[in-house]
Amino acid sequence: MIVLGIETSCDETSAAVIEDGLLKSNVVLSQEIHREYGGVVPEIASREHEVQLTSIIEMAIERASISKLDLDAIAVTYGAGLMGALLVGLNLAKGLAIGLDIPFLGVNHMEGHLFANMIDNPQMEYPFLCMLVSGGHTQIWSVDSFGEYTLFSNTVDDAAGEAFDKGARILGLKYPGGPEIQREAMGGNPDKYNFPRPRLKRSEYDFSFSGLKTAILYTCKKMTDDEILQNRSDIAASYQEAIIDTLLKKLKKVHQKTNIQKISVAGGVAANSRFREKASDLSEKLGLQIHFPKMELCTDNAAMIAMAGYERLKSGEQSSLDLPAIPNLSLAG
Ligand code: KG4
Ligand code: ZN
Repeated sequence: MIVLGIETSCDETSAAVIEDGLLKSNVVLSQEIHREYGGVVPEIASREHEVQLTSIIEMAIERASISKLDLDAIAVTYGAGLMGALLVGLNLAKGLAIGLDIPFLGVNHMEGHLFANMIDNPQMEYPFLCMLVSGGHTQIWSVDSFGEYTLFSNTVDDAAGEAFDKGARILGLKYPGGPEIQREAMGGNPDKYNFPRPRLKRSEYDFSFSGLKTAILYTCKKMTDDEILQNRSDIAASYQEAIIDTLLKKLKKVHQKTNIQKISVAGGVAANSRFREKASDLSEKLGLQIHFPKMELCTDNAAMIAMAGYERLKSGEQSSLDLPAIPNLSLAG
């Protein structure tokens, strides 16, 4: 079975081909234009998808060495995401499915992330925990089988990637802030500044990063621009350490509650080398198996959408052509 996946929920225009669960191609175009604005501009994102999507699909099909006529189904993200951006992918997917007279499947973007690790680690067995750490999400899911997910941890305010982005802005670094903070933190002293590791009384599994953002803001407000510049690598290292410690503390708690030993990581923050190092150390200490998918599978991509679509197709599902885009689509039941 050959499935074309399409992803346009935010600022990545992507198309991919999966054949019988194996990845044949995955073309991802990251819209660089948003850097100028310090964040994703929804209207520009939709326009860019509109301009690029057809050629990205052609490229994915060509790289998979197939023709459109070989496709058995089309899977596309229908939520969550930006309304205009979602509509570009959804409408094109519907049009293609009608034209080729093949099934069309709407896929929940979050479900895609949960299954991205299956693409380069097909031996991953249920149940596993998936830690999703991106610019929009900070969540820990337990995946008990296909379609059975439990959300254990969520952020009550900012996402981890957002904390990196906001911290970077305060330090006068560029967007996206994660890679900038990571670079700046190299050689910095992570113990120099005592940033909080927030504990939530209401829920011991949930994350909160807004206090951390306030802490870095106040630290910098007490300094002159020169002092910030001189101490920037120590501030960045301490700030990064606080985000990572918070993430890992909750991961440990969820593991202790569920006793699930296998963990996969998704989202842009998974690129952080200090996070990988500390997560691997923790896993070794607790006897866990942690899997970091290839970076192009951690961030938004159509391969994960094609994979989730393939699983749904196998179980005999397809979506109705009147399926709407749902910007706040949830996965938790
Ligand atoms: O998954 P992603 O590419 O996009 C969505 O949010 O959907 O994640 C982007 C986020 C940004 O907030 C970015 O700052 C963060 O991932 N990020 C990192 C690193 N690379 C990207 N955060 C920390 N360290 C990195 N090396
Ligand atoms: Zn995503």
